[in-house]
Amino acid sequence: CSYQLCICAPPILLGWQTGGTQLHVWLTPFPSPQYGIVLDAGSSHTSMFIYKWPADKENDTGIVGQHSSCDVPGGGISSYADNPSGAGQSLVGCLEQALRDVPKERHAGTPLYLGATAGMRLLNLTNPEASTSVLTAVTHTLTQYPFDFRGARILSGQEEGVFGWVTANYLLENFIKYGWVGRWFRPRKGTLGAMDLGGASTQITFETTSPAEDRASEVQLRLYGQHYRVYTHSFLCYGRDQVLQRLLASALQTHSFHPCWPRGFSTHVLLGDVYQSPCTVAQRPQTFNSSAWVSLSGSSDPHLCRDLVSGLFSFSSCPFSRCSFNGVFQPPVAGNFIAFSAFFYTVDFLRTFMGLPVATLQQLEAAAVNVCNQTWAQLQARVPGQQAHLADYCAGAMFVQQLLSRGYGFDERAFGGVIFQKKVGWGLMFNMPKSRPTDTEAAAPGHGGWAVPGIGSCAHLPLQLLRLLELPRREADSLRALSVRLPRKPSQPAKV
Ligand SMILES: *[C@@H]1O[C@H](CO)[C@@H](O)[C@H](O)[C@H]1NC(C)=O
Ligand SMILES: *[C@@H]1O[C@H](CO)[C@@H](O)[C@H](O)[C@H]1NC(C)=O
Ligand SMILES: *[C@@H]1O[C@H](CO)[C@@H](O)[C@H](O)[C@H]1NC(C)=O
Ligand SMILES: *[C@@H]1O[C@H](CO)[C@@H](O)[C@H](O)[C@H]1NC(C)=O
Repeated sequence: CSYQLCICAPPILLGWQTGGTQLHVWLTPFPSPQYGIVLDAGSSHTSMFIYKWPADKENDTGIVGQHSSCDVPGGGISSYADNPSGAGQSLVGCLEQALRDVPKERHAGTPLYLGATAGMRLLNLTNPEASTSVLTAVTHTLTQYPFDFRGARILSGQEEGVFGWVTANYLLENFIKYGWVGRWFRPRKGTLGAMDLGGASTQITFETTSPAEDRASEVQLRLYGQHYRVYTHSFLCYGRDQVLQRLLASALQTHSFHPCWPRGFSTHVLLGDVYQSPCTVAQRPQTFNSSAWVSLSGSSDPHLCRDLVSGLFSFSSCPFSRCSFNGVFQPPVAGNFIAFSAFFYTVDFLRTFMGLPVATLQQLEAAAVNVCNQTWAQLQARVPGQQAHLADYCAGAMFVQQLLSRGYGFDERAFGGVIFQKKVGWGLMFNMPKSRPTDTEAAAPGHGGWAVPGIGSCAHLPLQLLRLLELPRREADSLRALSVRLPRKPSQPAKV
């Protein structure tokens, strides 16, 4: 069996290195270690994933058998800037769980990584010493455990974008798949673009044939013997939480109310919180009292809200032949896309709670206007028990709509090729279901599992994929439709 084609379990990242514009991703050869632990340190929280896959070649499939995960209590590690050792301490509960979940004799052979994303990139911008202290504290804690610690570091936006793309396409078996004939082959069905909306940054990544006018956004990848040229860009401060902070700061600056919040909603905001982020620097008054609280009410004004959101994007100058926004090079969006994280939550809210269709850009815009036009009482009546971020869905929907249409340049046709899915993070590459569905479970209706014709027969992988991404049924149908729509060339069995 040849080296690159013998992997069915999710590719395990052994390491990465960015040199120039080449990103080298190492994937484990077969046979692989049996367990791995990844800590995905996001801006608002950290999750731990333990994955496991059989090392035996017996069945030649290498399906991930089971996993566990753990949510670290409290905020993201970047929230411990004033108390770095607290960041390390916060991980202890999950690491203790890892000691129990991984058999003792496997501890020493189990790789352990921590990858931090945009929350730590921001902290490194404002207070590099604090970000170093946090990473040092976290490293100190992680090395207290018997696992094979491979490092704790801040991922670049480019890495985050590319890992998300690799993950999504791996899970969709766009790189390799296991055919009915019992052999690996390269499906050659093309890849899907990936769009991720996190708390502090947003990434867009897709394969392109357009010339790279800005080498910083071009990544060459070699995966399973194939060459891929990928465009990627990460917009720091364009994650959902930071966007909301920036809109709040703009509302304070230009209005005495918040046009994106519902009428009847009002709250007190601490100025220190609004202006402490480097993302709100542009709106920061020259002097302000950081311990003062300001009261702000919503006005349910879709048009003013749209204007406020528009202010996040600048189209005034572009040093390249074409740009997305803020002078950032971007070739035309090409092919189909998967949009996940907060993209999914936003669109899912519009569909599920508001009952609004979002199949076209025009519908998405109308849905955003509709949400923004609701009073607080109307919203609460519609969405009982969802109060936490309810007032922010208008701004979130307006932002997603403008980012996709004006920002990235999706037109109706391109938008038709975007599917919204729950979760594909770079670290979530390892986010496998709790237990491998048995054949009966998988076949039983109502368990969320069904075979997807055309995606292949790599044993249980397609079923796991559907569960992993927790697709509602219509999403799975559109996924199926999508996989059928993709250009397909006759697949060639690989040399084994
Ligand atoms: C491999 O195949 C054997 C016999 O068909 C089966 O009992 C076993 O559960 C399989 N292992 C995996 C990991 O699927
Ligand atoms: C912080 O940013 C600087 C400049 O980009 C970089 O050299 C450094 O490695 C970063 N620190 C960490 C801990 O990643
Ligand atoms: C800042 O605000 C706090 C809380 O309202 C107040 O106690 C304090 O006097 C203010 N400081 C200044 C310099 O205005
Ligand atoms: C907002 O809602 C009111 C009724 O509640 C309706 O008359 C108005 O046309 C709506 N405006 C928009 C822009 O949808």
